[in-house]
Amino acid sequence: MLENLPVLLSEDEIQKRIAEVAAEIDKDFEGEDVVVISVLKGAVFFTVDLVKKMKTPIELEVMQVSSYVGTESTGNLLVKKDLDRDIEGRNVLVVEDIIDTGTTLSYLKEYLLSKNPKCLKIAVLANKVERRKVDVALDYVAFDIPDKFVVGYGFDVDEKGRNIPYIGYIEE
Ligand code: IMP
Ligand code: MG
Repeated sequence: MLENLPVLLSEDEIQKRIAEVAAEIDKDFEGEDVVVISVLKGAVFFTVDLVKKMKTPIELEVMQVSSYVGTESTGNLLVKKDLDRDIEGRNVLVVEDIIDTGTTLSYLKEYLLSKNPKCLKIAVLANKVERRKVDVALDYVAFDIPDKFVVGYGFDVDEKGRNIPYIGYIEE
């Protein structure tokens, strides 16, 4: 069922663009180090390729979060896996796989800012611009993508398909 999905972004396009994003990040953090927070599970793939292309010294943290929504207008952050280390006074780079409505990321950002980092930047692999409900400023966006359900390179359908090496999509 997840075989031969139409390709939205090829392995090659993904890696080329990640190299550009890595260079941008290196430029911004020149001479400093950064705590990279990879948001499980989908962003693992992007995080690994991104940090390997960066020259900035990093420390790697992982978090797993989700937003739960009481009603359409209220929601909150559920932290399933929290940070192991204090980020107070540190440069922090959050690495996310996708921004859809923006709800999860906006809560995560609020949570991390409450820990008083020196700076907090956000890198996202895929930005579904049309779906945005909550405005979140993004510092690094690898790709703006159309409103399609994407699979592969970390993106899943019920936990399947994350290891497909390219980003494909499900045709409706
Ligand atoms: P939101 O920005 O709070 O709406 O949530 C984004 C989350 O929805 C992501 O972290 C993904 O887990 C999931 N998601 C949204 N769009 C897709 C998609 O196209 N493929 C796979 N997961 C998606
Ligand atoms: Mg996610």
